[in-house]
Order: sequence, then structure tokens, then C-alpha cells
Amino acid sequence: METARKRAEKLRRELERHEHLYYVLDTPEITDAEYDGLMRELKSIEAAHPELITADSPTQRVGGKPAEGFEKRRHSRPLLSLDNAYNAEELREWDRRARELAGGLPVRYVAELKLDGLSLALHYEAGEGGARLLRGITRGDGQTGEDVTANVRTIKSIPLSVSAERLKRTGVGAEFEVRGEVVMPRAAFERLNEERERDGLAPAVNPRNAAAGTLRTLEPKIVATRGLDFYAYFLLQQGDYFDAGQEATLDKLAALGFKVNANRASVASIDDLLKFIDKVESKRDALGYEIDGVVIKVDSKATQQRLGYTGKAPRWAIAYKFAARAGETVVKGITVQVGRTGKLTPVAELEPVFIGGTTVSRATLHNADFIEKLGLVPGDTVKVERGGDVIPKVVEVVNKGGTRDEFHFPALCPECGSHVVRAEGEVDYRCPNAACPAKLRESLLHFGKREVMNIEGLGEAVVAQLLERGIVHSPADLYKLTVGELTELERFGEKSATALVGEIEQSKNAGLARVLMGLGVRFVGERTAQLLAEEFGSIDALRSASAEELERVNEVGSKVAAAVIEFFAEPENRKVVEELRSAGVKMTAEKKPRTNQLEGLVFVLTGTLPNLSREEAKALIEGAGGKCSGSVSKKTSFVVAGDEAGSKLDKARELGIRILDEAALKQLLQQN
Ligand code: IVH
Repeated sequence: METARKRAEKLRRELERHEHLYYVLDTPEITDAEYDGLMRELKSIEAAHPELITADSPTQRVGGKPAEGFEKRRHSRPLLSLDNAYNAEELREWDRRARELAGGLPVRYVAELKLDGLSLALHYEAGEGGARLLRGITRGDGQTGEDVTANVRTIKSIPLSVSAERLKRTGVGAEFEVRGEVVMPRAAFERLNEERERDGLAPAVNPRNAAAGTLRTLEPKIVATRGLDFYAYFLLQQGDYFDAGQEATLDKLAALGFKVNANRASVASIDDLLKFIDKVESKRDALGYEIDGVVIKVDSKATQQRLGYTGKAPRWAIAYKFAARAGETVVKGITVQVGRTGKLTPVAELEPVFIGGTTVSRATLHNADFIEKLGLVPGDTVKVERGGDVIPKVVEVVNKGGTRDEFHFPALCPECGSHVVRAEGEVDYRCPNAACPAKLRESLLHFGKREVMNIEGLGEAVVAQLLERGIVHSPADLYKLTVGELTELERFGEKSATALVGEIEQSKNAGLARVLMGLGVRFVGERTAQLLAEEFGSIDALRSASAEELERVNEVGSKVAAAVIEFFAEPENRKVVEELRSAGVKMTAEKKPRTNQLEGLVFVLTGTLPNLSREEAKALIEGAGGKCSGSVSKKTSFVVAGDEAGSKLDKARELGIRILDEAALKQLLQQN
């Protein structure tokens, strides 16, 4: 028995080493057949002695049963996005700002590939002889993702365990988190599409979508065949980034056994950075996976902390996006779509064209003026651009092949036949019919979106059928749907019906901010909805707020305030709110505790403060009811100046505005 245990342990170590050599370092030492031989031997020992199986054994990558669904999990700290730069000029500007904000702290950059996949958080916990993979969570909305552990375990470049030696060597504790990107290599993508074609299925549009779809497959066995890969770029402990800088972090990750992309550079100057970007762009097509740019990160952690964060992205990193890829094709026709607000959008129906890894067959034409400006008629050959996530765009007519009639914007709504209207000074035509079926369809789709009420499975096909059968007349009706009703729909089984009802039920707790977005109040996007929810705490408080009270909220101006008031003045909207309430949808939020000693005061921050980052200072001021503004004017109450304050300080002196340093600001905050 002891010998079987010993042999199994040895085989596991061997197999782990060879997997690391093959999948992470791409330098195999043995043939596939030899590897298979070792694996077979381990499997047979484990079959004879099931008590010897460990969770992180290489034989256990593909686990037991298919999953029913994915549990939602909160991230240890949000997975943020990145601001973008589209050309050298914008990058130089970012570099200049970063150096200014760094206030003398060192500024070196680490440049990495911007892999076109999806981000993933891996959690490791202390296990026998080191650390073991506990969980893999998708990005989700950045705050909460989905637990896709069973699928993640099948990705061979992700270690199921990290040995105690590696932990010791790197000085990393057994509990840690690794973040990085899951990609589907081009070869795997092509293979997948060949298979789909054979099975008579529509091809996956691009490797990123294919990777995302694969990661959400309920059957880990299938995931295991798809050849996903993972590149690590962040290491976190207790929810905080690893202490050393980015360059050292990448080295640690590699030393822990993770795959780190070798195409990277550590540079001190913007010119070297641009050289690296050029080099990457020239070899873009030769890489085995898709990238859409280069990510630049400030190396030093101290400098990162000094630079801080804007709302959604770090100021210490930026994505340099490669220019959109373009192609030429023929416009077969122009159709017009009706949106949630009744806005009519013309769309070019294209002869399918392959651009940057995706087949494009439709592109937005924005509005009637845009078509006129292009001078476009069906039959013309156009240039189409596509960049990353962006909807393909027609940018110019390259050949006037159009023999068909000139395009006339429809006078009637293509969905309900109402006469369309165009308000003075607006570019868009709208359908004025409140009961237009397209509006309802689009509102429902919007309501279910991930960043809104997050109702997975409420897609176009389902919504179309619900409307056709007259089962749903407003978002509130979704909450009355039963499993029985849903199973009547085409291609809907008991399982998917139960899942959708569960998703709808869960969305009741999405909170006030998401409900506000879901209701579709004009100009109220994610951030504004959040701020309003935190300020008012309930939909009733928000509904009875005056314009003045609304405008007191940071970042809310007269336009948003008017839109909120207008929204609640409409009886139809009030009715939907009441129906949602009776359905049990939560319409409250935690009010942000705030004091108001700085109410009515406007602050301008300039220079580097000794202790507070600009972001922190701003949060303190706003938390106390003050407002922050970017420029000094007669309306400014105080200028808070730190080291190397520039022209704003001069201007403040000129206008006789009171100037505070950090200590004085803190004193002001403590008063009253
Ligand atoms: S850093 C807070 N590094 O790009 C920092 N992201 O546009 C955010 N991505 O959501 C992530 N390659 O999915 C980072 N080397 C890289 C990346 C990378 C690809 C993705 C990532 C992120 C998105 C932001």
C-alpha cells in the first residue's frame, strides 16, 4: 500500500512537471506518448486505490457531473477596466499626466500584450503540501462574477496546486489570488469552427466570444476539449495587489508556475514604449492568439498608489488600442431598427466580409444625416471598420456602384406603421407611438442586460415569443412568469425554464441603482443611477425629490434632474414602478452616510498632496457634501494645493480665492 501511495505521489509530481513544461513553458521534455503512459499508470493506481485520489491530482482536471448553472460570487476587490489611448499623441498625454501626478516618484512602465480574451480571478487556498486551486471566477460585472471552477480546472496551463517549495522560494503565502486572461488560441478557434460547420451550426464570431461561451459551458468535459489557455498578470493577497511592482509580480507569477506572456517590456521612456508597441503591432498576425493592443502599467506600487483610480479604471494603467481593422464590401440594402426609446437607427446590410478575425454582415449607419453625408445608396462599395468590441462602422463610400434607387428614410415606423417624427434640432427620427411593439421588446431586452437587472437567458428569442403570445406587457410582467408558461415556448425545456424563472426571481434583489437603469430614465446610466441610489436610498425618496435636491447630487446637472422629474411625472411609468414593487422588486439602496459641513462649497484640487491621493481627497470632500471642479473660477470656494501646483494656484491667487493645504483641508472636514 505504501508503495502505491509513494508511486502515485511521484507520478503526480512528474505529470505536474511535464504539464508545466508543455502547457506553460512550451518546452516539453517527453513525447505525448510518454506523457500518456505516465497518466495511464497513475489512473490505474487511483482506480485500484480510490482513497489515494487527491483533488489536485492531474487525473482530476475533468470533474464529475455537468453543472446545473453557475453560482454568483463577489470579487475580493473589483475587476476594473482600463482607459484607452488610440494613438501616440494620447499616450504621450497620459504619460505626461502620470508623471505629473507621480510628483517625483519613479515612473517606469511595464508593457504587456492586451490579450483579447476575458479576465478571470483564480483563488488558491492552503492545501496539503502547498496551495491548491479553490475557485475560478469570471469578471461578470466587475463586482460579482460566476463561479466556473469546474471549467477552469480543465485549462492545462492553470496549476491545480502550487508546491510548498515554490511558495517558499517566492515568499508568497498559501492563500492568494491570481488574475489574468483566458484566451482561445487561433488554432483552437479554427478547429472549433470546423467542427461547428460539420455539425451544421453557425460559426462562432471570434475567439473571444468562443472563449467566453466555452467558459460558461455546463459540461467540463467539453471545455477540456476546447484548448483554452490562461495568461496571468496580477497577484493579490488579502484582496490587495502584491507588494512589489508589476515587473516583479510577473516574475513571481512565473516562479509560482503560472503562464506569463513573454512578450513584454520594461521601459523608462515614452519613446521606448512606442517602439515596443510598433514591434508588437508588426508581429500581431504571427501570434497564436488574438490581441487588440498593449496594456501599459506603472511599475512601482508606491507610484501606482499615488496615481490612484478614476471611477472605473486605474490612473496607473492604460490600454493602447491598435487602429481599427478595416475591410471593403458591398451594401446590399439598408434596414431601419427601432430602439427602446423609439429612436430609428439605419443599418447597412452587408455582403459578409472578414475583418480582423470576425465576419461582419451588418454595420450601423447612425442616422439619416450620416447616410446623406456619405452619399450612400444600396449597391455601393464601402469601407467598414471594426475595433474590439465596437459595433462595425461604415466609414466611407469607396465605389459608387449603386444602381438601385436612392435610399429614403422611412416616413412610417417599420414596426408599427406610425408616422415618425424628428424634433427640431435633433438628428434622430423617432416613433412616437408609446405602444410600439419594438419599444417594448427593446425595453425588455435592456431590462435583462447583465449591467442592468442581470437576467441571464432573457434573450431575443425568448422575448420575441413572450410578446408574440401576449404574455408580457411590461418589465413587471416578467415577475409573473411561471415555469409552465415558459415550457410552452419553442426550444424551452423544463431545465431552462426553471433557470430563467430563478434568474428573474434573483433579479428582485438587484437594488435601486439597477432598477433605475432598467426603467430607462433618460440620461441615467450606470454611474448616475448609482449616485442617485446612494443619495436617496429609495425610489420613493427619489420620486419626491425636487430639481434642486436632485442637482445637489454630485455629477447631476439640470438635464438629468429634469429627466428624472419628467420620468416620474408620467403615469405609465409610475404604474410600472408600482407593479415592480408589488412583484417584490427591491427598490431601496444603502444610503451613503454623508455629512454636510461642506455643502454649497466648490473645491479645486491641484498639485500633489503629501498623504492623500487626489481621488481620496475628492472622496472626502464629496462625502462631506462639497463639490469638486476641474478649473478655478469665481465660483470656486477653495483651492487645495499640494506640491508642484501649477497655473490653477496662480489663478486662485489672482482671483483672491482661499488656498488650503492638506492639513487645512482636514481641519475644515473636522469642523462642525
Ligand atoms: S490589466 C485594472 N493586463 O483588458 C487593470 N488587462 O480593457 C485591468 N486585458 O478587463 C486589467 N490583457 O480583460 C490587464 N495584460 C493585460 C491584459 C488585460 C487583456 C483585458 C482585461 C481587462 C480589459 C480592459
